[in-house]
Amino acid sequence: MKLDIIVQFLQVLVVSLGVLANSTYATPIISHNEREKMMISIPYPKIFHENYRHDLDFLAIGDWGLPGPGKDSVAAAMETWAKNNDTLFVINVGDNFYQTNSSDYDGVLSVHDPRWNSVWLDAYRGKLAEIPWYTVAGNHDWYTNVTAQVDYYWTVNQRFFFPSLYYVRVSKFGKMNTKVAWIHIDTDPFAYNYSSLDNRNDMKENLGILKLNTTKEIQEKLDWIEEQLKCVQDAKWIFVVGHHTLIGKCRDQYYLSKLPPLFERYRVTAYFAGHSHMLEVESVNSTSPVTYFTTGAASIHDLKGCKGASWSAPGGTMGFLHVRIRDDEDKMNFEFINATTAGSPPEVIYKGSLKVRER
Ligand SMILES: *[C@@H]1O[C@H](CO)[C@@H](O)[C@H](O)[C@H]1NC(C)=O
Ligand SMILES: *[C@@H]1O[C@H](CO)[C@@H](O)[C@H](O)[C@H]1NC(C)=O
Ligand SMILES: *[C@@H]1O[C@H](CO)[C@@H](O)[C@H](O)[C@H]1NC(C)=O
Ligand SMILES: *[C@@H]1O[C@H](CO)[C@@H](O)[C@H](O)[C@H]1NC(C)=O
Ligand SMILES: *[C@@H]1O[C@H](CO)[C@@H](O)[C@H](O)[C@H]1NC(C)=O
Ligand SMILES: *[C@@H]1O[C@H](CO)[C@@H](O)[C@H](O)[C@H]1NC(C)=O
Ligand SMILES: *[C@@H]1O[C@H](CO)[C@@H](O)[C@H](O)[C@H]1NC(C)=O
Repeated sequence: MKLDIIVQFLQVLVVSLGVLANSTYATPIISHNEREKMMISIPYPKIFHENYRHDLDFLAIGDWGLPGPGKDSVAAAMETWAKNNDTLFVINVGDNFYQTNSSDYDGVLSVHDPRWNSVWLDAYRGKLAEIPWYTVAGNHDWYTNVTAQVDYYWTVNQRFFFPSLYYVRVSKFGKMNTKVAWIHIDTDPFAYNYSSLDNRNDMKENLGILKLNTTKEIQEKLDWIEEQLKCVQDAKWIFVVGHHTLIGKCRDQYYLSKLPPLFERYRVTAYFAGHSHMLEVESVNSTSPVTYFTTGAASIHDLKGCKGASWSAPGGTMGFLHVRIRDDEDKMNFEFINATTAGSPPEVIYKGSLKVRER
C-alpha cells in the first residue's frame, strides 16, 4: 500500500472509533461507495437520528472563513459558551473558507487542503473540537471545489457533518423524547440566476455540473423541501438551515422568495442563515409564524444588514447565536453574543424566546 493510502485508512479508522466512543452524533446510513455514485446535489436519501438525554443546546455561526483576530475572538467566546452550557453541536450556515489575498482562493482545493487545519481544526478548540458541526455550503464554498467539502466528511472527519448539499436530521431529547426536525438546504441555486451569471469563481460552471441550473431542477429542490416539511409535521420544533439570509428585502433575490411561503405554510419554527455578515432577527407577526435568524458575523462584519429586520446588532459587531430548549418547556431561548474584540469580555447583546409551533 502506498503511504498516503495507509494514512487515509488510519484516519478513517480513527474517525470510526471516535464515532463508537461518542455516539452523540449521527452516523451515516449509506456507504461511501454508494455516496460516490451520487452527485452531492442529490439530497441524502435517509434521515439522520440523534438522541440526547438533557436539554437541546447549540451554537449557530456562519461566514467564519477569514483568519484573523475577529474570528479568534468569536471562537474563544464560543468555546466558553459551549463548555459552560453543555453545548451539543454547532449549526454551521456556511462560507467556511474565504480568499485572503490575490494569490490564494475561496473554498478548498481538496480533502487534503492545509486549510482544513488552519481555518477549522486549529481555530476552534476545547469543546468546539469535540462536537459535530452540522454544515451547509455558502457561495464561497461553491467557489473552487464544493465536492471536496462533502468528501471531507466521507473520507476524513465526520465531525464536519456534511453528507450532501441537502439532508434531514431528527433529534430527540430529554425525558419526554421531544422531537426536533432539521432540514439542511443549499440556497445557492435559489440565489443565483444561471442565465445572467458570469463565471467568476466557477459558480456558474458548478451550478451546471451539479445540475442545479434549470428552473425545473430548482423547482425539484423546492418540491423536495416541501416534501420533507410535510413528513416532519409531528415535530415539536422544526428548523431549516441555509446560507442565504431571508430577512426582509434580502429575500427578494431570484428564487429565494419562494422559501418563506413554504416555511410559513408548514409552520417552521425558525430559519438559520448567514451571508449577510450581521447578527439579526426578523420576528413572527400576524401572518408569519417563522422567526428568521442571521448569524453571519463569525469572522467578518458588515455595516448594514437587511431592510426589514426586527432587530440588528450595530454594524461592525462580530459574534454568534446560542440556543437552548428545555424538554419540559414550550419555549426556545436564544441569545446573541457580542465577541467583537479579543480581550474584552464577550456579552449577550440581545435575547428572546420563541413559542412552540402549532401542531
Ligand atoms: C452559558 O454560558 C455562558 C458563558 O459562560 C454563561 O454566562 C451562562 O450562565 C451559561 N448558561 C447556562 C444556562 O449555564
Ligand atoms: C496569501 O495567503 C496565504 C494564506 O491563505 C499565505 O500563505 C500567503 O503567504 C499569502 N500570500 C501573500 C502574497 O500574501
Ligand atoms: C474536487 O474534489 C474532489 C474530491 O476531493 C476531487 O475528486 C475532484 O477531482 C476535485 N475537482 C477538481 C476540479 O479539482
Ligand atoms: C434570469 O436571467 C435571465 C437572463 O437575464 C432573465 O431573462 C430571467 O428573467 C431571470 N430570471 C429570474 C427569475 O429572475
Ligand atoms: C445547465 O448547465 C448545463 C451544463 O453546464 C448546460 O449544458 C445547460 O445548457 C444549462 N441549462 C440552462 C437552462 O442554462
Ligand atoms: C410578516 O412577516 C413577513 C416575513 O416574516 C412579512 O413578509 C410580512 O410582510 C409581515 N406581515 C405583516 C403584517 O407585518
Ligand atoms: C461589542 O463589544 C465591543 C467590545 O468588544 C464594544 O466596543 C461594542 O460596543 C459592543 N457592541 C454592542 C452592540 O454592545
